[in-house]
Amino acid sequence: MRRFLVAGNWKMNTNRASGAELAGALAVNAPASETGVEVLVCPPYPYLAGISDVVSKSAVQLGAQDVYFEASGAFTGEVSVEMLKDVGCSHVIIGHSERRHVMGETDEMINKKVKAAIAGGLTVVLCVGELLSEREAGKTESVLDTQMAGGLADVSEEDAKDVVIAYEPVWAIGTGVTASPEQAESAHEHLRKWVTSRYNAAFSDKIRILYGGSVKADNAEILMGQPNVDGALVGGASLKPELFIPIIEAARKLANS
Ligand code: 13P
Repeated sequence: MRRFLVAGNWKMNTNRASGAELAGALAVNAPASETGVEVLVCPPYPYLAGISDVVSKSAVQLGAQDVYFEASGAFTGEVSVEMLKDVGCSHVIIGHSERRHVMGETDEMINKKVKAAIAGGLTVVLCVGELLSEREAGKTESVLDTQMAGGLADVSEEDAKDVVIAYEPVWAIGTGVTASPEQAESAHEHLRKWVTSRYNAAFSDKIRILYGGSVKADNAEILMGQPNVDGALVGGASLKPELFIPIIEAARKLANS
């Protein structure tokens, strides 16, 4: 059975003190890994090392929100896989819609990052998702296919074994508009079929596909209760323990049901 993953993407929020406080509250409340729920936090780069100290003895895992694909050198402003590992990261989000649409990241760039992160031993959370205009034009599945094929180009089954996919419809991010459970399940089912055809059914059965986009305590259980939804990638509601812990609890309830 696939283990639920509940991940908080803090985006460009918090500061040193508030981030440490938030992580501390989660470290106390995060369920032990044997409950079938993994918890991940992805703070901004400057706070990773400090948060690592806060969560290192807990079940809370640490991830970054992005990474660069080169190992070192003259890449002003960028951060390497080894640097992330050095400060205690086990995971990295790659291809988030804000990186794609605000920073102009292409599938080619995302693929280089995915390959570098896997080679360095980080667990990749690869984000895919369509714009509202693409959904309205009936292009959701073809957009997802393109992003999956681009992001995972030349990535073997062995290399992809720890990759997590996050389906984040762009129109649902930070808008308060959540995909309906049916819309989420339909996209997740499509993504799993894509993995079956690109890799195989056994692998597709194992890969985790998270939903992201206005996940809150009151919709988490129904979304994560869909057969092909294996957790949540949470933005706004990951910034306060009282909002994020109930989402972890919803996953815990589903995992134990
Ligand atoms: P919100 O939960 O704020 O909609 O953000 C979702 C997201 O982009 C997580 O990566």
